[in-house]
Amino acid sequence: MKYDKAYFQPAVDYIKSQIGGFEPKLGLILGTGLGGLAAQIEDPIEVSYKDIPNFLVSTAPDHAGKFIFGTLCGKKMMCMSGRFHFYEGYAFEQLVAPVRVMKMMGVERLIVTNAAGAVNTDYAPGDLMMITDHIKMTGASPMCGPNADDFGPRFFDMTRVYDRSMMAVARECAKRAEIKVHEGVYFFFTGPQFETPAEIRAVRVLGGDAVGMSTVTEVLTAAHCGMPVLGFSMISNMAAGILDQPLSGEEVTEIAEKAGPRFSAYLADVIRSL
Ligand code: HPA
Repeated sequence: MKYDKAYFQPAVDYIKSQIGGFEPKLGLILGTGLGGLAAQIEDPIEVSYKDIPNFLVSTAPDHAGKFIFGTLCGKKMMCMSGRFHFYEGYAFEQLVAPVRVMKMMGVERLIVTNAAGAVNTDYAPGDLMMITDHIKMTGASPMCGPNADDFGPRFFDMTRVYDRSMMAVARECAKRAEIKVHEGVYFFFTGPQFETPAEIRAVRVLGGDAVGMSTVTEVLTAAHCGMPVLGFSMISNMAAGILDQPLSGEEVTEIAEKAGPRFSAYLADVIRSL
């Protein structure tokens, strides 16, 4: 299968038929616990993933499964409430869908967010980390298979995908709000199992500050089509083996939801300032 513009055109046509001429410019993918920000979108128009042809259906718990279009802090947004993960059973190649559809809808820049486990022991649950780079050591990529030349080249640059000018704006916002936003490297695991303590020690040696099971497929797809990205992790837990206790999905969701409002307020200010 070639996931090119012709493949996604029915999805784009359907979405356009639902949103009455609205032209989104900024994409936002909301991670666990960040649903609150979606509620602030003015005049929202929702489009369920399940109604979109040639698209994917969200299966993860706590992920709503819809695009929300509307204005947030003065920006015309295409927001994903609920996202797609490799561990749900999709092939990496299928995971290009959301960002390619965003690109075809006219989205120029992308903000990605997630909940992540802290590998860096200077971090604590509830903290925020701006993603300055990532590491993915699992072999496959969303860009495997025939290249969709109408989105980008076969081989593409990853040195500047986390956009320096957007990061500078985010830094200024943190300074103004007097909140600490760490800057670190997001290390991707496919999941759905959490990592072993030995894997987390390895991540630390390799230079990772936080671990998670999302985001990187979206960032790669954005990089391929030349879309600048700003990324944030909300630290929901210390990664495996740091504390003498097991990890659970419930803990991740609980902490992410508790820290959600503070993160949302900061993110709203970043969106306004971009
Ligand atoms: N590991 C992987 N993914 C995660 C974690 C974690 O510790 N916390 C939230 N998402």
